[in-house]
Amino acid sequence: MTLKVVAVAAVIGIILGIILSLMKISRIKPLNWIADFYTSIFRGTPLVLQLMLIYFGSPQLFGVQIEAFEAAFLSFGLNSAAYISEVIRGGINAVDKGQREAALALGVPYSSMMISIILPQAFKNILPALMNEFITLTKESAIVTTIGLADIMRRSYIVGGDTYKFFEPILFAGLIYYVMVMILTVIGKLIEGRMKRSD
Ligand code: ARG
Repeated sequence: MTLKVVAVAAVIGIILGIILSLMKISRIKPLNWIADFYTSIFRGTPLVLQLMLIYFGSPQLFGVQIEAFEAAFLSFGLNSAAYISEVIRGGINAVDKGQREAALALGVPYSSMMISIILPQAFKNILPALMNEFITLTKESAIVTTIGLADIMRRSYIVGGDTYKFFEPILFAGLIYYVMVMILTVIGKLIEGRMKRSD
């Protein structure tokens, strides 16, 4: 359940994060405002509040009570997009402006310039920050227990309640989180190493 929430949220976060970052660097002012407002809201309030608002408020928000899992990946995805958009914006700005100028001088259209020239270079710069975000997402997912989702955290204290021993199961949950974060760290390092080859 933890992996499912994190995986779906990461996909939403990346896609929406890219869109928001492009809106932020756009010359069209209203797009800047909308994206900045979005980030200020999702970064300016606690994630646990967003999770509860979407889950318990879903009958008023969407007209139906949504599943805990849906509320979890939605809130995590929307929240993560705010952070990822800032990471990507920073990465795009860090790409030498000569790259953009050369593309424009050669008549490369905006979309191809972004997809084939700017974003791949930006991605290399932001990889460590992006891995940080996925690590945060993985550990922060423990708050889904507040809406009753049976993730690692909740299961660990269910076992604690059954056996009247909380120390071992919670410690074991900690170990699982730690291993997941280590796996992410190694994957990040591998991708980083692979991308260094083109330098
Ligand atoms: N505990 C923080 C909050 O509630 C974490 C937010 C999630 N952070 C992130 N990088 N997606 O606001």
